[in-house]
Amino acid sequence: MKKSIFFIICVAILSLGFIQDQLDKELQKTIQSEQLTPPQKEESANPDKIELGRLLFFDKILSGNKDISCATCHHPTLQSGDSLSLAIGVGGKGLGSIRKMGKNRLRIPRNSPEIFNRGAEGWHTMFWDGRVKQLEDGQFETPAEEKFPQGVENVLAAQAMFPVLSRDEMRGRISDRDINGELNELALISDAAPQSVWRALMNRILKFEDYRQLFQKVYPEIPLKKLGFQHAANAIAAFEAEAFTFEDSPWDQYLAGKENAIDLSAKRGALLFYGAANCSSCHSGNLMTDQKFHNIGVPQFGPGRDNGKPYDYGRYAETGEWKDRFAFRTPPLRNVAITGPWMHNGAYGTLEEVIRHHLDPEKQLQNYDPTQLEKQLQKTYKGDEQSIGMVVETLDKQLLNAQALNDDQISDLLSFLKSLTDSKVTQLKKMVPQKVPSGLSMEEDLSRATKSY
Ligand code: HEC
Ligand code: HEC
Repeated sequence: MKKSIFFIICVAILSLGFIQDQLDKELQKTIQSEQLTPPQKEESANPDKIELGRLLFFDKILSGNKDISCATCHHPTLQSGDSLSLAIGVGGKGLGSIRKMGKNRLRIPRNSPEIFNRGAEGWHTMFWDGRVKQLEDGQFETPAEEKFPQGVENVLAAQAMFPVLSRDEMRGRISDRDINGELNELALISDAAPQSVWRALMNRILKFEDYRQLFQKVYPEIPLKKLGFQHAANAIAAFEAEAFTFEDSPWDQYLAGKENAIDLSAKRGALLFYGAANCSSCHSGNLMTDQKFHNIGVPQFGPGRDNGKPYDYGRYAETGEWKDRFAFRTPPLRNVAITGPWMHNGAYGTLEEVIRHHLDPEKQLQNYDPTQLEKQLQKTYKGDEQSIGMVVETLDKQLLNAQALNDDQISDLLSFLKSLTDSKVTQLKKMVPQKVPSGLSMEEDLSRATKSY
């Protein structure tokens, strides 16, 4: 009796070991053919520049009404996002899932993305619709066109030039007054003169001695008068790259050769991701995104964007090409398990639904349940036949190549996605400065921004 139990245990251990070995072998082959390598940490910028960027990132002085900072929508304690489906800009109050809209304001039409690892080499396309891009020759393609200044150091800095121009995100409306009841001079400037907004912002920022000193330390060769907002943006980007780069997830450790960093289920999930489930045809390479645009049939809701209202046409608004209707840039996936709600508009509150959506987008779109959204947004859901028909029309064909998956396989894919979380990303509170040079308040009461993913 004893002998036979001993025998069974031995066989079990041996065969488990054999399965592990087989999986590891297959996975190593995949890793080689996909040319995946553990991320390389870029060199840190100079500490004064990072500190200047940090203060600017948290300082509401960058917003017209002095009521919102970059951190409001990309908070370190909210995994560099805001936990909302659609962001709440100027006029809003509070942080995270309890943030409230201001009176007579509209929601921002899109989800605040996490901003992890955007300083990594190879990033060239910013925003869900890719409206900021760095081209191969190093030039930037941006909505400011020829008004975009010289001296912007990288694509992350190029991105940082734009939230301050957006009336709904940070700048405010012409008739707005700031939190002290004073004129909002940024809002008075015409939308056609971004340079004037950037200049007016620098006038604001350089009124504070602490900022003057820091800018001089970071840019000793440039006289204060010659500094432009691009110099602020370079510092913000340096801070973002330093603070939000996390590349030591269990999967990264596995890529670096540590075979037991992820479990069997995650290994099976990785094989599906790079194999039968076809995920890596879009979430490809070391950044886990092709930085291209695909319509994967995400339900439409919210105020809509620009000329497309009440719809958000995504990339189509940039290119005017029919195939780009409802296409959005493939998001990267490191730390994705904790950065919900997911998709360009936060349509889904669980990662499992996100996977199920990809496997049968048309059906998921037809059956989407808007009651999972905040009440305010439920009313804006476009679930009528015509809207759904429009979205389905330009659906990406690549989604159809995936094999149908059973529940165990979906659970393996989930394990793989969870293995992309670096354990350090949940400990970012220390990044929040004690105070900012303008003396304006920072986001109050972090402990109440409760909903976490
Ligand atoms: C009102 C909320 C809000 C504020 C304030 C805000 N953002 Fe964002 N951020 C967003 C949203 C929403 C998007 C996506 C918009 C889009 O794609 O059209 C975004 C996109 C980004 C991206 C692009 C990420 C990617 O993957 O393409 C970066 C980087 C970023 N923001 C940094 C900043 C910085 C720096 C500031 C301050 C100068 C800032 N944001 C202010 C909401 C906000
Ligand atoms: C055809 C290209 C394509 C394929 C194939 C694909 N995805 Fe995606 N994925 C996208 C795009 C594009 C989005 C964002 C769509 C949107 O918001 O409208 C996305 C969104 C996601 C998100 C949400 C990320 C976030 O930050 O909101 C996850 C998770 C994800 N995909 C995982 C997967 C998995 C797992 C597979 C394989 C089963 C897969 N994807 C296959 C293009 C693709």
